[in-house]
Order: sequence, then C-alpha cells, then structure tokens
Amino acid sequence: MQQLKGLILSGGKGTRLRPITHTSAKQLVPVANKPVLFYGIEAMAAAGIEEVGIIIAPETGAEIEEAAGDGSRFGVKITYVPQEAPLGLAHAVLTAEPFLGEDPFVMYLGDNLLQGGISDLVGAFREHAPDALILLTPVADPENYGVAELAPSERGSVGRVLRLVEKPPEPVSDLALVGVYMFTAAIHDAARAIEPSARGELEITDAIQYLVDGGRRVEPHIVRGWWKDTGRLEDMLEANRLILDNLTERVDGELVESQVDGRVVVESGAYLERSTVRGPAVIGAGARLIDAYIGPYTSVGEDCVIRDAEVEHSILLAGSSVCDLDGRMESSLLGRNVTVRRSERQPRAFRFMVGDNSDISIL
Ligand code: TTP
Repeated sequence: MQQLKGLILSGGKGTRLRPITHTSAKQLVPVANKPVLFYGIEAMAAAGIEEVGIIIAPETGAEIEEAAGDGSRFGVKITYVPQEAPLGLAHAVLTAEPFLGEDPFVMYLGDNLLQGGISDLVGAFREHAPDALILLTPVADPENYGVAELAPSERGSVGRVLRLVEKPPEPVSDLALVGVYMFTAAIHDAARAIEPSARGELEITDAIQYLVDGGRRVEPHIVRGWWKDTGRLEDMLEANRLILDNLTERVDGELVESQVDGRVVVESGAYLERSTVRGPAVIGAGARLIDAYIGPYTSVGEDCVIRDAEVEHSILLAGSSVCDLDGRMESSLLGRNVTVRRSERQPRAFRFMVGDNSDISIL
C-alpha cells in the first residue's frame, strides 16, 4: 500500500499579521505558548503519518527549520521544500511534487488549527478512497471563504462536491473550506492544468474544481470540532482562547504572596510576586510577574516581565515586558522583546517606537 504523506504549507507572506510577520513567520506565533505550526505537525504524527514535507519561504524558511528541526521530537521525519515565491496553494503542491511522488497526502495550512486533529478524516479517506477529500465547516459569513456546493444528499449522508467558489458574493451554501485537504497524485496534473487567478495565484480551489469537472470523486467531510485560520489578529486571539480553554492546571514556577485561580499553567522558572493570575492562562518559563494581574485568556511567553500592570486576553511573545501601566492592556499581541511602559517624563504624553503597519488603540 502507498504511504500517506503530510504536506504543511508554511511559506506565504502573512500580510494580514504585519508587523509581526516583518521579522518572523506567522506559523511560529505561539498559541498557548506553542507555535501554531507545531499543532499541525503533532496532528500528522497522531494520525500515523511518518513523512512530513514543510513548504518554506526564502524570508522565513531558516527560522522554521530551526524551530521544527528534523521532526524527531514529534515522531516524524521532516523534509523542507523551499518555494521561491508565494504563488498559491496549488503552486505549493507542484513545488512539493518531487517530495510527494505518487503518494497520497494530507495538506495542512501551517497557520490553521483544527480541534480533534486529522485522524478522523485520514480514516474516511482510507475507507472511501476518493480522488480528493475536502474539509468543510458551516460558517456565519460564507462570503469571506471558499465555499462548497454539494449534490443533494442520499439517505442522510452528505452529497459529493459539485462546485467550489472563492468568496462568493451570494453564497449557495454556508459550508466553508477548512485549510486541510487530502489528495491523491491526481492533484498534480490538475495543478498543472489550471491558470493563475485574478490575484496571480494558482488556487487550490481551481485545481479541485478541475478534478470535479474531470469526473473525479471529490468527497466532503464536515468538521465536528472548531477550526481556526490564525491569519489575522482577532483569529489568533480566538485560537488562543480555544486552546487555553482545554488547559490542564499545573504550577511548576515559584509563587510568592501570589495566587492563581482556575486553569492556569505556570512553567518552571517563572516567578510571581504579589500577583494574581486568573485562568485560563499560561505563564512561560523564566517570566517575572511583580504586582501584576493576569486576566483570562492570556499567554505570557518565556522571559516576559509584567510589573505594576494588568494584562488580559492577550498574547505576549518571548522577552516582552509591560510595566507601570495605570490601566489594563487587553486584546493585544506583542511581538518578541517588545516594551510597553508608562513614562514619568513631563508633559504626560504617549511615546512610541513602532514598526510599519502596527495598530495601536488608545481609549
Ligand atoms: P494565506 O494565509 O492564504 O496567505 P499568506 O500567508 O500569504 O497570508 P496573507 O494573506 O496574510 O498575506 O496562506 C495560508 C497558508 O499557506 C499559510 O501558512 C502560508 C501558506 N502558503 C504557502 O506556503 N505558499 C503559498 O504560495 C501561499 C499562498 C500560502
């Protein structure tokens, strides 16, 4: 039997998450203090996939290789596949053809999170042996997604895929394409046959449509748990909420006159003094919290410092600090080594050093 491989797309531009993506790959932004990308690799390992290819971009490839390594710590073998430019998801598939060969594969967008992993759909793919299997989930705003039109169902089952439409102004269904797909080698010819779209990319939806039009069997699989594309700040924060909701309490760090309530993880080496952490929240190794309040749905990265400040519903990457705030910082994403503080200088004024495309709200 052919082996099932994994392909994780971790290239791209990440324009919607600038300025974080000016200096780092969006797939490495941590959700509950673990890079988004690692959830995808772990899902593949849990589904029994042994060989995983990761598409990387010239700008962020080295950083991704350094983070994920050879895959041994996940129990998989990782092969890195450089893509010279982000020319579309179907272009990424073609770029990976030498790695994939004739083998069927799961394709997973490296900035996506899928609750419950992929074992279910790998099972469905093996059982029904379609030419492709796409994951769908009902959404409230299908006009913002790739949407699938299905054939009328027979005896309660879901019908086959008839048509895929990218961001339809008048959607025919509320079933959006989730960023996880399963393909046989038939997808390579389909990706070769299609033309770039209006935005200049080889679209995976066009390649799948090509399979459908050629009489190939494309099967839908409706996702039961939640699915999140973390491409924008709000989505990143929501993914953080969803993952933190399933946290198992564990306090390994040091607490001095401090308290933690609810689902809270304090990693070893973290130090809390006169501070309160109300979960769900995670405090990374080496973080220092002094006279601080951490509210629900906050992930504090390694070696962060929070002093005389309140932080809630936020993600702080490693080495950042928030000090001497009069108020509360919330719904924020701080990159690595960012400093947020109140200055004592007169006149009282806001003072910033901020990168391109940053977004600051002062209420
Ligand atoms: P997108 O989020 O659709 O694209 P992007 O990363 O360029 O982001 P933005 O729209 O904010 O500019 O990509 C989904 C995933 O696929 C993401 O992990 C990046 C990856 N990708 C590739 O690896 N190669 C590509 O050619 C494209 C378009 C995306």
